[in-house]
Amino acid sequence: MCKNLMLLGLLFSVNVLAATPQELLKQYEAQAKQENPAFSGFSASNGASFFKAEHAHSSGQKVSCSTCHTTDPRNQGKTRANKVIEPMAIIANPQRFTDAAKVEKWFGRNCKDVLERACTAQEKGDYLQYLVTVK
Ligand code: HEC
Repeated sequence: MCKNLMLLGLLFSVNVLAATPQELLKQYEAQAKQENPAFSGFSASNGASFFKAEHAHSSGQKVSCSTCHTTDPRNQGKTRANKVIEPMAIIANPQRFTDAAKVEKWFGRNCKDVLERACTAQEKGDYLQYLVTVK
């Protein structure tokens, strides 16, 4: 009995963190509407430009999301330390965007790294929209 309850608790906590890209898109949509009452949906093509856009970093370097993730999200990328990064496109890597905490952790880190600010919900949603539509 006690063991069963523990198992149930475990299953429940795993469920809370697990997500699908579609669920995450819904969450970003709700946030984007709060950030901007004129929000009119996510755009995969804006997401693609966002992914490839180069930013002049205050360090003097030019950086973009594709610096590490490459310009094709179906490809493996590389960290600055040459560690392999698995593809970002859902079609190439179904593990992507299935763990809300992981997604937020890396958006936080990488947006700060590239843009020197947090990404908006619009930017996150456009990017995710792009990654789910890449065939
Ligand atoms: C300095 C290298 C680097 C840059 C630049 C970079 N990333 Fe990443 N990114 C990583 C690494 C490393 C991981 C974690 C390893 C993994 O998940 O395979 C990651 C993971 C992620 C994840 C987690 C997705 C998931 O569900 O697994 C998201 C989202 C992400 N990056 C978005 C971005 C965005 C958006 C940009 C541009 C603003 C960006 N990254 C730029 C290295 C980078």
